[in-house]
Amino acid sequence: MASGAYAPLTLSAAQTGPSMNCCQILAVILVNVLALPLQILALPFQLLFILLMPLVSFCSALSLRRRAAAIDGRAEDPLVAQTWGSLEELLSRPAVSVDLSATWPMVLLAALLLPMILVNNLLAIWIPPYFAHIARMAKWHQLSATGCGKVLFSWYYWNWHLLFGTLIAYMGQRRVSVYAFEGEAQGGGDYWWHGQGYFTGTHALVDQLAMGVQDRGLGRAAFDAVVPEVFPLDSIIFLPNSHEATSKWAEDRKVMHDFWLSEQGPNYAQRVGHLKGLVKESWSNPSLDNLANIKVASVLVSRCVFYVFFGHWLTDEEASVMSRWARDAPLLVTPRFIHRLAFNFFVHQCKDLRAETIALISKHKLGHVFSTMNSTFSSANRRKYDVDLCNELMFVIGFAGIGGPSRAAASVAKFLLAKQSEDQAGVTFGGANSHSMIALYKKDPKAFIMETCRISSPVGTFTTRLTASAAKELGLGLDLGKAQETHLAGVINVSNVDPRKFPEPYKFDPARPNLPDALTWNGKAFSSRECDYPRLCPGRDLSIQIVKTLAEVLLCPSGCECMNPVVQVPSVTGMERLEYEAEKEAVLERVHKRSANQLVADGTGIVGLGAEFDRNAGRITLYWEYGHLPYLSEISRGRTVLISTVDGGVDVEDASKTISGEVESVSSDCMVVVTQYERLPAGRRGGRNHLFRADLGPNIVAYKRQPWFADAGIGCWLCCRCNATCPGLFFELKAKSAGPAECFKATPGHGHSVHGSYEADGPNEGVLVTLTSGSGKELFRNANPSGRFSIEVMEELPHKLCFESSVEESQMVSFNFHVDEHGDGTDHHDKEHMEYVTKEHTDKVEELVAKLEAKANDILDQQQYAITREAVHRETAESTNARVMWWTLAEVAVLISLAAFQVYYLRSYFEVKQIV
Ligand code: HEM
Repeated sequence: MASGAYAPLTLSAAQTGPSMNCCQILAVILVNVLALPLQILALPFQLLFILLMPLVSFCSALSLRRRAAAIDGRAEDPLVAQTWGSLEELLSRPAVSVDLSATWPMVLLAALLLPMILVNNLLAIWIPPYFAHIARMAKWHQLSATGCGKVLFSWYYWNWHLLFGTLIAYMGQRRVSVYAFEGEAQGGGDYWWHGQGYFTGTHALVDQLAMGVQDRGLGRAAFDAVVPEVFPLDSIIFLPNSHEATSKWAEDRKVMHDFWLSEQGPNYAQRVGHLKGLVKESWSNPSLDNLANIKVASVLVSRCVFYVFFGHWLTDEEASVMSRWARDAPLLVTPRFIHRLAFNFFVHQCKDLRAETIALISKHKLGHVFSTMNSTFSSANRRKYDVDLCNELMFVIGFAGIGGPSRAAASVAKFLLAKQSEDQAGVTFGGANSHSMIALYKKDPKAFIMETCRISSPVGTFTTRLTASAAKELGLGLDLGKAQETHLAGVINVSNVDPRKFPEPYKFDPARPNLPDALTWNGKAFSSRECDYPRLCPGRDLSIQIVKTLAEVLLCPSGCECMNPVVQVPSVTGMERLEYEAEKEAVLERVHKRSANQLVADGTGIVGLGAEFDRNAGRITLYWEYGHLPYLSEISRGRTVLISTVDGGVDVEDASKTISGEVESVSSDCMVVVTQYERLPAGRRGGRNHLFRADLGPNIVAYKRQPWFADAGIGCWLCCRCNATCPGLFFELKAKSAGPAECFKATPGHGHSVHGSYEADGPNEGVLVTLTSGSGKELFRNANPSGRFSIEVMEELPHKLCFESSVEESQMVSFNFHVDEHGDGTDHHDKEHMEYVTKEHTDKVEELVAKLEAKANDILDQQQYAITREAVHRETAESTNARVMWWTLAEVAVLISLAAFQVYYLRSYFEVKQIV
């Protein structure tokens, strides 16, 4: 821990909790004596368990090994480097840092004493001073053991581990309640002892720790955590951030940012933009109740996260594998001692999850992503095998990336229903019902999600190593005994409800002024102070986007004004134009500088394709002349590709050489591209039987090139005729000296009229627009950068609309128009009406429309309310029915036993007791 990193804090002194009084000591002794027969009675069952469990565990280990070998053997991805390594070897690495209490003989002893330990744990829950005593003894064991360099065996140490599990079970998984109980039992100070280190939930201290160096030891929170059986030891979450930019932690973070999480990354914005549509398609039972179920939420979140990172929308089966990361999260943080009591059965389950995740990567041929990532590391930090990096990064994606947003989404859904979340009890909604909670959400979705995550933090803690000197510096008055160091955990979920920071902490209030001070994402995320937190969660934006998307599908399925759009709706702005230009340059540079083999290796292009064009459907099927299509990592469904002939080359400005389209599907046999072009590029020689190439196109979908409009040779008229309104068209108008005018042809009928408008956009704007009749008569001329026209056509010959640049920079021209058969731009009935329409009329109509809109919104809100009420009633009815059933069963049981007793009693009554 860096010296001088902390400002002095005023904290309450170290607490050890009240000691037990005589009565309590007597009660503990008495219960233990009475529990002795129980211990003896349970012995046969324990022996059975000790015999059977290792067998079950052995079988699960064997099947895991076979599966890992099968995954290794698949090698489906030809682009995976030779350095991939072996999953089987990775999963069979030996355990490290096993202390005496968790060695097998000790574990067997603990298993035999289990009933006594459990009785003591229940006692500790009922008698808090006894709890404090066990915690004190466990602390002594831990600190003195580290101090003298040997980890001893201790009954209290076992007790403590199991005690925590018992507490969690007792308090319904709500960790905050467990921490509150622990803190209270140990005297209610600002920190308490928690098994393997100190925990604190004071906002001021957790904030300081979040800003400082979070020096991680082996494993997550504990030196005896199950490493590496469950954790990949080098995963970013467990690495210290105490080093410079060249540290493994820094490079891991950089690589995650560059490849996946940067909003400026090649795919991020586009993929996030696709999420809503994909979720809508695959969510079978969308409702708030459904989302409030963590299993459902985790399946949806897994799909979203995997799609944003890898561009594949998982099938139901695949998503249920990934969602185990959220469901099995408690197993991942279970200490080794507890895992060993279950004879490593759950360790195999954790390993199985890691293996299945890597199998998914292999199935989707994504191994090369990790090979490429690994090659960007400096030699000191490069993993020997790519599979190690894959395992480590997928662990983080699962553990942090799926677990966190799943809990957040489920809690948001619960709060939208005005119910308590799984993670937090006692939240007050100020009398709000689901109806008003939804209205509150719509007011500010991000604040709603942040407030939900403050009160019901999806991630509970982070840890740091605490040395004696740092403890002194922090002014904690912490007792480290003989130990040089221990762990200190910042308990985020307790600090987020610290009343000293957040008055009325359990009141749900997204408008609270200091909401960004919550430490939910390992620091004050979304505040002006983000930079002060070196380990701030890099997935914070994505988590908000995902939760928002899921809520939006439920609350505003057909678009929602209230929502800040996840990705800006396509419209050509100056910035997009610049982005498009930059992308176009990048595409051209890649195409011209990279060889065909390099393009395939990069996953951005392929040369030597045959093509079949289905003109009616606008579909091009591309297949490779040399067999199966090689895997192209960057070209997947939804991406824009450029199709050109091999001999003609790529020229994005010339539609006769290069056309564009969107990838509809890709398989090993062919790629199907949907295009709006009427024909394939003709190449230099013209004619048929060309070989084609496909290259990844500029990435801004909104900015589709429509060059066939600008290509008079292709001969398409302005796209629509006769009373149809044309959507806005865009094309690039080259600099004055770079090319001739861009012209469009049309043949409107006699007496028709053409109405339209145009606008030029560029660093310097200047355009001359002319409309010329078939006989060469100029009907319209305008040199302004924007304008409107409305011209009556008198000849049935082709007319020409030309745009000529008058400046030396290229500009984007957008225009739309309307051809009207009646020749006046209005409907004839309208014309009659127009004469009588006054402003008063239009105001009335406007008012009426506004009223209708308000009523429609009202009805929608009422419907949502009715749905929620119906759900609540159904739940109440179901629970009443269940209770009635149990009551009836109990009655039946009592009646049967009563009847049996009566028969027995009557029989004995009539029996002849004495034979004289
Ligand atoms: C509501 C959702 C989320 C919450 C509350 C959250 C919170 C956190 C917290 C508190 C940490 C620090 C934990 C520790 O160091 O022990 C963390 C780390 C991390 N999170 Fe998130 N997270 C969320 C979603 C995500 C997502 C969607 C991703 C990306 C897929 C992600 C990626 C990471 C990574 C890579 C780290 C490790 C950073 C480091 O150690 O430097 N998180 N997150």
